[in-house]
Amino acid sequence: VSLKPFNTFGIDVKAASYCNISTVTELRETLEKQHHNSLFVLGGGSNMLLTKDIEALVLHINLKGIEVVSETDNIVIVRAMAGENWHEFVLWCINNNYGGIENLSLIPGNVGTAPIQNIGAYGVELKDVFVSCEAINIKNQETRTFTKQECKFDYRESVFKQELAGQYIITSVNFELSKINHKLHMDYGAIKEQLGVSLVGNPTIQDISKAVIAIRQSKLPDPKDIGNSGSFFKNPIISKEQFEKLQESFPEAPNYKISDSEIKVPAGWLIETAGFKGKRFNDYGVHKKQALVLVNYGNANGNDIFELAKLIQKTVKRIFDIDIETEVNII
Ligand code: EPU
Repeated sequence: VSLKPFNTFGIDVKAASYCNISTVTELRETLEKQHHNSLFVLGGGSNMLLTKDIEALVLHINLKGIEVVSETDNIVIVRAMAGENWHEFVLWCINNNYGGIENLSLIPGNVGTAPIQNIGAYGVELKDVFVSCEAINIKNQETRTFTKQECKFDYRESVFKQELAGQYIITSVNFELSKINHKLHMDYGAIKEQLGVSLVGNPTIQDISKAVIAIRQSKLPDPKDIGNSGSFFKNPIISKEQFEKLQESFPEAPNYKISDSEIKVPAGWLIETAGFKGKRFNDYGVHKKQALVLVNYGNANGNDIFELAKLIQKTVKRIFDIDIETEVNII
């Protein structure tokens, strides 16, 4: 089975076998039967770079459903199943006037994989609205509920990428959203600018979602047209001392204060300054409008893109003495 349609990078590798999972019972039974075989869990396929054929059974998690679990006058708890497309879930919330994830509009991927890397954009992270998630233990098929604390969320990080990597399959996520008095997050410069262009009166969550969609469409490639996995690297967090050293040679370096001793530097700026923005090699390259995004123009090979990523890391290290880590999982 070719996995090309199932990964947003559009890399054509083959899976030894493939199984579509549409109910939790089916998932549990498949895990029970296959416990001695190697498995590869696939969600939205939006955060991975496949560099070789998968010698395993691919479990494609397509659990569907969205429901209100409980509500008060002000807030609502919504449960979404893991296989729901993230952006369609955002639109469902916006149509129901449930606030909290409008800034996360148009992020590729599924609900069930969103907690793994604590997706975030424009001043909001998944953890801000996350209540809990249900997951199945791959080894013994037991269901476990993870609270927000147990997920150990951090910048593009969670327990599911660290100590519990490869051990659980998330089946559903519960979110706490607002019904009235939505708390809008408009501090991000690009959102302010975008709203300034189009806004009459007080902004609504619908306005914010539209603004985010416009910003993303203006600089991030749509995987339907050009294969990609969003930001390929994380923005590095460096010490204040290291940043001061960087500023001596690059006084214009953009930066965000994380704490009194730590500073985040946009990897997009490092990569652009290193000369990679818009560079194209045959069928792959660095996106022309956002240097943080590596792209597949058609039939690129995952290894070629991986080699390019390593070259970028090496060059950034040489010029700025900063290590940039991949955000995308390399398979
Ligand atoms: N920049 C450049 N050149 C570029 C790109 C960026 O100089 O080609 C500099 C600019 O100074 C710009 C700054 O980087 O002001 C920040 O750029 P941007 O607002 O586009 O955000 P980002 O840091 O590149 C992060 C997330 C994105 C998220 C945006 C908006 C990470 C790794 N990426 O990107 O997330 O959408 O902020 O909040 O944190 C993703 O994770 O896949 C993703 C797209």
